[in-house]
Amino acid sequence: MGTSDPVLRTLGDDAEDVREWLRAAAAGFLQPAVSEDELRTRAGAVDPERTQGAYADGRCVATCRTFAQRLTLPGGRDVPCSAVTHVTVTATHRRRGLMSAMLRRALRAAKERGEVCASLIAAEYPIYGRHGFGPATRATDFRVDLTRAGLDRAGLDRTRATGPEAGHVELVAPEELRTVGPPLHQRFRALPTSAGAIDRSTRWWLAHTGGLRYPGDERPDLFHAVYRDRDGTAQGIASYRHDRRWANSLPAGTLHVDELTAVTAEAELALWHYLLSVDWTVTVCADRRAPDDVLPLLLPDPRAARINRHHDLLWLRPLDVPALLSARDYRTAGNLVLEVHDEAGLAGGRYALDAVGAQGARCEPTTLTADLTLGVSELGSLCLGEESAGRLLRLGRLDEHRPGAADHADLLLRTDRRPWCQDMF
Ligand SMILES: CC(C)(COP(=O)(O)OP(=O)(O)OC[C@H]1O[C@@H](n2cnc3c(N)ncnc32)[C@H](O)[C@@H]1OP(=O)(O)O)[C@@H](O)C(=O)NCCC(=O)NCCS
Repeated sequence: MGTSDPVLRTLGDDAEDVREWLRAAAAGFLQPAVSEDELRTRAGAVDPERTQGAYADGRCVATCRTFAQRLTLPGGRDVPCSAVTHVTVTATHRRRGLMSAMLRRALRAAKERGEVCASLIAAEYPIYGRHGFGPATRATDFRVDLTRAGLDRAGLDRTRATGPEAGHVELVAPEELRTVGPPLHQRFRALPTSAGAIDRSTRWWLAHTGGLRYPGDERPDLFHAVYRDRDGTAQGIASYRHDRRWANSLPAGTLHVDELTAVTAEAELALWHYLLSVDWTVTVCADRRAPDDVLPLLLPDPRAARINRHHDLLWLRPLDVPALLSARDYRTAGNLVLEVHDEAGLAGGRYALDAVGAQGARCEPTTLTADLTLGVSELGSLCLGEESAGRLLRLGRLDEHRPGAADHADLLLRTDRRPWCQDMF
């Protein structure tokens, strides 16, 4: 156990400061040693000004950093968001409030920078609710048993677009995906139905395509497929790997879908059909898909797509309620007054939402009587449309001051397509 009280500070430009911080982060994630190579690679992602460490007895014992992220809201507009990552406290210093202190500082700094909310992916569910974060998107891990899916040649052809209108799938080299992928993903993020999507950095694309390798990361290289429509325009991408397993002289392989992003329904279906028809494959695993992905229903027997896991993914913490709620679209026009409680004093207040449906909304502080009172983490869960105000009401996690107000909130806030984030950070 350490003896002196840890002191929190923001990192300086000194390279050794960053390396010491990275070693502490590794220890916090229970990785005993980090190679020089790994330190060098990981240092490139760290912006010292957005990075905090806690120091005791000359050692870094706790870490937390943020980076600038763009988050798509229902309707397709995006807002600046503070992505929180590398939250660790070394085992010798746990449960003394270090994480809480770092988060408070990180959230205050994000608010000062004008970031509309903070986001993270929670290692464990109970950690972040008390800091105002709520689960805002969920994801589904599918495992398709191709032997039960009914996708024989005829089954595939029944639902596959063919003829002169049809585009085609082609395999591309990693370098080509680095060119095709970023603008396609930008188009995807701007779709009205892409709530929950986050931007991908150049570094993300490099890591995804094998151009940046974290030492010790033994994941095999991926295949990259692009769907082009009949005019040759890329409308979807998918990346996957195959384990090439055989058993008793029969193919027994699993194809793992790493990602699939499509901007048209035609591209989405064509890419799924391609992935489901690769030879030597009996199982297709696709993790972190949207809970309402088309996947099960494009199989003649949808039960062949077993849900392995259905889990929370992106957590959001509102920091600027008017900016957040006025940047999204709503299913219909309507008014709602929300009283938001925030113990951290960052986003609390009473706000009048005046939604004009798909044309956006106004949201401003108000003195009108509140329709609903809720905590900031509940607003985090509701703001993309994933959670239901009615469900939170039944749980006693929000208060209704006008009968039907929770139902009205659901009518406004919920989305036809569920919000979805497929990226980890
Ligand atoms: C999770 C972690 C960062 C918490 O750090 P910490 O400094 O011990 O947390 P704090 O002391 O600030 O805890 C604040 C409160 O949250 C609770 N809490 C913290 N971690 C928790 C967990 N994993 N599960 C449930 N409650 C947790 C604490 O019990 C404490 O509650 P209390 O105030 O009622 O006593 C640390 O345990 C850790 O590094 N874990 C391994 C890496 C990890 O999971 N990081 C998160 C990545 S998303």
